[in-house]
Amino acid sequence: PATPPRISVIGTGYLGATHAAAMAEMGFEVIGVDSDPLKAAALSEGRVPFFEPGLPELILKHVSSGRLRFTTDLADAVALSDVHFICVGTPQQRGSNAANLSYVEDATASVARSLTHDGLIVGKSTVPVGTAQRLRSIIAASTPVGVAAELIWNPEFLREGKAVADTLTPDRIVIGGVTARSEAIMREVYAMPLATGTPLVVCDLATAELVKVSANAFLATKISFINAIAEVCEVAGADVSVLADALGHDVRIGRQFLNAGLGFGGGCLPKDIRALIHRSRELGATKVADLLQQVDEINMSQRLSVIDRALEACGGSVLNRRIGVLGAAFKPLTDDVRDSPALNVAAALHLRGAQVVIYDPEAIATAQQMFPTLTYADSVEEAANGSDVLLLLTEWDEFREIDPVELKKRVVMPVIIDARNYLDAPRWVEAGWSITGLGSNTKSVARAADRQLELLMTGR
Ligand code: UDX
Repeated sequence: PATPPRISVIGTGYLGATHAAAMAEMGFEVIGVDSDPLKAAALSEGRVPFFEPGLPELILKHVSSGRLRFTTDLADAVALSDVHFICVGTPQQRGSNAANLSYVEDATASVARSLTHDGLIVGKSTVPVGTAQRLRSIIAASTPVGVAAELIWNPEFLREGKAVADTLTPDRIVIGGVTARSEAIMREVYAMPLATGTPLVVCDLATAELVKVSANAFLATKISFINAIAEVCEVAGADVSVLADALGHDVRIGRQFLNAGLGFGGGCLPKDIRALIHRSRELGATKVADLLQQVDEINMSQRLSVIDRALEACGGSVLNRRIGVLGAAFKPLTDDVRDSPALNVAAALHLRGAQVVIYDPEAIATAQQMFPTLTYADSVEEAANGSDVLLLLTEWDEFREIDPVELKKRVVMPVIIDARNYLDAPRWVEAGWSITGLGSNTKSVARAADRQLELLMTGR
């Protein structure tokens, strides 16, 4: 087409807001649609309702340039656009492993119903394989007479915390179920990343849907693999961090996603592997379901293992013990606490009677919403004050800046469990701390308990 396609983006969460801003940055007229008027209003002023580095600046830039706007009026946005990206959520269903597809189905049907001229509907949400085919029937039944609609699948691989860079310069672009016409439109939409050599994979609908969930399943498997190896390391007296470095030098393996520790959380990996378990069982493909079941179990057991270590460090019970928790977000560079292993551990210790005090550089507000009864601190120092044991549960940069000598003056017991294997352990030991990671044969927890006994007996 002579004029560039105009774009609507349905759903403005991490995925949609970032995609809309990136499309504007690539030169297109973009309208973001959200059913939540507060969200649409905030984004219209360049305020992003979650923490994502670089995104507020990019949105503000293009709201100001006039290329990007946000609305709650889906019909209006669809009437004014040619390509419609479906970016709504597919959360885990309550009481089931399956994904809740009602948002995707509703959004797709609404777009189809609102079409006033031929349109290309592009699915970006993460969905179980087979969904897109079903959406095609929904579209066929909803599109007004005389208007042609096409549906293709174009999964998104962005990471929270790096969403802007991942969207502007993706590792690959996957488009599934295209015709010659829709492939040409997609090549135009992604002309910028394609021009710099980003690989384009053109495939069928089902493959496009599955690439996304397989990528997440593989990443999750890598993490649970190294956590399983960490268990052997511990009993065998090996060090999993050194082992991971050595493994990572093999380019077939790679060093990323081999950090042993508290395991994965967030709004994607856990629910996506569970949805794949559910879907593959439905399809009778049990191998991947069994494999991922193990991956999920290993991952959840990491949380229990950290809780056990905290209990052990406190001599068997955390009742009335003060536990300082560093980190609440499911990973650094985000304020997202959905399925956060850190908050999960903190809440479990609170339930066992500990006085848990949590500090996180960005995620206190979101954590407070989810767990209002927990106690929150404004700094590392405040979380550490009077603590019997400290837990590092999210590896924020600023935790590496902590001076263990200074921090020791604030705690009752200089004991820290580094559940992300993140700190420079020798430095902490030198400062008189007992530090224990996951997956190395340290006896320091036991030593901490001994030391505590010693202190009690000598009356401190
Ligand atoms: C993930 C995928 O990476 C992304 O491609 C997809 O589009 C969405 O899901 P995200 O949820 O933002 O992205 O988080 P990611 O960076 O993948 O981290 C997931 C979890 O794994 C975090 O809780 C992190 O702490 C944990 N993790 C990661 C480890 O425990 N060890 C590692 O070595 C790496």
